[in-house]
Amino acid sequence: MFRKSKCLACHAVDQKRLGPLLKEVAAKYQGDSSAADKLARKIREGGVGVWGQLPMPPQPQVSEADAKNLAAYILSL
Ligand code: HEC
Repeated sequence: MFRKSKCLACHAVDQKRLGPLLKEVAAKYQGDSSAADKLARKIREGGVGVWGQLPMPPQPQVSEADAKNLAAYILSL
């Protein structure tokens, strides 16, 4: 699903690209029980300022359920 959603254009699991390393994202939110909801919302609506000045564009083609699955996947890394 991650590949299908074009996320890999800007994110890799352990290689720096435009967006933050997904492993770093997982580490940053470790122990934050609201992280899955927060990240699912951010995946669909986009945002900026957490990792730098480069914005994450909104991904409205990702359904709410898919965004939750993606967030859970990222947090499991
Ligand atoms: C055009 C490039 C681009 C694409 C495509 C993209 N991202 Fe991002 N993403 C970014 C950038 C840049 C950031 C850092 C935003 C910030 O600093 O707030 C980011 C941040 C994130 C974060 C961390 C959010 C936070 O608040 O800590 C997650 C999770 C994430 N992206 C998941 C995804 C997923 C899942 C997809 C595919 C559906 C995706 N991204 C597609 C560029 C992208």
